[in-house]
Amino acid sequence: MAASKVLLTDLSSGISHVPLNYVRPVSDRPNLLNVQSPEQSIPIIDLQDLNGPNHSKIVKEIGQACQHDGFFQVKNHGIPERMIKDMLRVSKEFFKLPERERLKIYSTDPSKTVRLSTSFNVKTETVANWRDFLRLHCYPLEDYVHEWPSNPPPFREDAAQYCTNVRGLVLRLLEAISESLGLQSDYIDKALHKHAQHMAINYYPPCPQPELTYGLPVHTDPNVITILLQDDIPGLQVLRNGKWVAINPTLNTFIVNIGDQIEVLSNGRYKSVLHRAVVNHNKDRISIPTFYCPSPDAVIKPAEELVDKEHPALYKSYTYSEYYTKFWNLGLATEKCLDMFRVSTT
Ligand code: OGA
Ligand code: NI
Repeated sequence: MAASKVLLTDLSSGISHVPLNYVRPVSDRPNLLNVQSPEQSIPIIDLQDLNGPNHSKIVKEIGQACQHDGFFQVKNHGIPERMIKDMLRVSKEFFKLPERERLKIYSTDPSKTVRLSTSFNVKTETVANWRDFLRLHCYPLEDYVHEWPSNPPPFREDAAQYCTNVRGLVLRLLEAISESLGLQSDYIDKALHKHAQHMAINYYPPCPQPELTYGLPVHTDPNVITILLQDDIPGLQVLRNGKWVAINPTLNTFIVNIGDQIEVLSNGRYKSVLHRAVVNHNKDRISIPTFYCPSPDAVIKPAEELVDKEHPALYKSYTYSEYYTKFWNLGLATEKCLDMFRVSTT
């Protein structure tokens, strides 16, 4: 009997049809011809002067984007081009390593702080996703870096530099977002308690029938804020005014999106928006989301300053670990996890 492949990267090479367990029901396929052109895309915000004389103008732009779009791109973010290139290169190299080398860190256990896996939650899902991923805990760096892959040899160094720099960008954005809500600039920083940072390196192999399956089906991100780096292959789509819009890659920009926790902290003023990743016929694609999170014990609730008679609290108070457990168990099902934490209005 042929050994069954656990990773899609190895299973998918040279096949001409998508295996049945990846095929979505007809009502739940990407409908790739019905995607809006990139002109409808998300705002681009130039962060060059965030700490200069244009500070309040840029804070306002960020606030508007969080309120109306939930997604924006940032340029002049201060992360050197070289670090971005190195991160993408070493990620590609990782997924080209021999199968036996990659499988050393394969795990389906979400509590592992370093793991390679496939799809989303293979233990519970009924249809698989066209994706392999390496997931790493990144903050505090010194607690985790020694567990990261040491092959390819530059991996730890390149990924550590990248994570540290992305964290710096996140902290600047969280200050700006706090201010844009009329809160103290360290409000969100404090609300996250000790903070946590996770990174996924998503690898989407070429797909013989991209119209039948997803890289990642529609979801919102359960964390605070996500900073997405993608290579030059399109795949991310965002729901805007009821329509799917492709967010095409732009060199040296990051895509930023508000996660569920900012929706709660802002008492619904800022939106955690639905998005998905589709796959394509000829090219493999890498995307690298940094998920910035509260520490598991942080108690999350709407900011008191944003709750009054006209704006009653829309969400309950909970710990982030309660939230994440629900999210993981729902398994990217169509329900929004956030709905389970709403204050009931009846
Ligand atoms: C995610 C995600 C999009 C992409 O990992 O949460 O939305 O383009 N990824 O890979
Ligand atoms: Ni996402």
